[in-house]
Amino acid sequence: MNIIVVGSTNMDLVYLVPHIVKAGETLHSTKHELFFGGKGANQAVTAGQLGANVDFVGNVGADDFGEQIIQNLQDKGVNTAAVQRVGMTGQAIIQLADSGENSIVLFPGANFLVTPEQIEENTERIASSDVLLLQLEIPMPAVETAANIASQKNVKIILNPAPAQQISDSLLSKVSILTPNETELAILTGLKTETEEDLFQACSLLLQKGVGAVVVTLGAKGAYYMNHYEHGHVQANKVIAKDTTGAGDAFNGALTVGLCQGNSLKDSILYASTVSAYVVTQMGAQPSIPSSFHVNNI
Ligand code: RIB
Ligand code: NA
Repeated sequence: MNIIVVGSTNMDLVYLVPHIVKAGETLHSTKHELFFGGKGANQAVTAGQLGANVDFVGNVGADDFGEQIIQNLQDKGVNTAAVQRVGMTGQAIIQLADSGENSIVLFPGANFLVTPEQIEENTERIASSDVLLLQLEIPMPAVETAANIASQKNVKIILNPAPAQQISDSLLSKVSILTPNETELAILTGLKTETEEDLFQACSLLLQKGVGAVVVTLGAKGAYYMNHYEHGHVQANKVIAKDTTGAGDAFNGALTVGLCQGNSLKDSILYASTVSAYVVTQMGAQPSIPSSFHVNNI
C-alpha cells in the first residue's frame, strides 16, 4: 500500500485562551504548546501510523522548525526524501478557547514556495504510488500539476479541498474521491449544504462534474457520502471533544488507508470516523493520531 501525499507542513503554535481574542483586545493565554501540524503532514502521519508506506512531497523552512518537522515525519515512518528546505516553516497560530472553539492564523511560509517544477521532479514517485492524497495548503498550480501526473499515470486521486477555495472543473474531473466539509462543499458548488437533501444536490453536482465519489465530513454529525451507486449517512462516534484540530486530516488519512486495503467506501468511512473521533479527544493535531494497534483496541 503506497500512498503519496503532496502538501503542507506546519508548526502549530497553540494558545489556550478563555475566549477568542477580539479586535484591539489583549488577552492572557493560560497555556502554550507546540505541535507538529499542517494538513499534508497530518494526513501523511495518519496514513503512516495506520500501516501504509507513505512518501511526502512538500517544503519545510530552512530553519529549526523545518529540521524538527523532517525528523518527526521520519520518526512516524514517512519517507522525506522529496521534502525540500526553503524559506520559513509554515506556522498555524491557533487560539483554543475554553468553549472548544478555535481560530487559526495561518502563515504559509515554505508551503507557498512549492512549485509545479518541483512536483514534476517527483513524477516517478507519484507514478509508483497507489493513491495520491492532496489538500489545498500549497499553491493551486502545484496541486494541479500533481493531479495531472497522477491522472496520466492512472494513480487514484483523493482530494481534501481544505482550506476552502474554488477548484477548476478540470481538476474536479480527475478526482476519485473528494472530501469537503459542509462549508467547503457550499463554496465548491455555490449551493446550500444544510439539510440531507441539500447535501444530495450538492454531491450530485460534483458527480456530474466527473468526481468519482464525495465524502462530506459533518463533524459531530458524522459523514455523508455519494458515489454513482449509493449515497448515505454515517453517524459519528460519540466522544467528548477536547481539541478538534486535525480531525479532518485524521479522517482523510484513515479513509485513504481503508480504501487502499480494499474496503468498501462505507466501511472505509466507518474506519475513518473511529480514528477522527479519537483524535478530537486529545490535544494537538499529530500527537493524538493513533496507531493501527491502538485503533483495533478503541
Ligand atoms: O487541519 C489542521 C491543520 O490546519 C493544523 O495542523 C494547522 O497546521 C492547519 O494548517
Ligand atoms: Na486532537
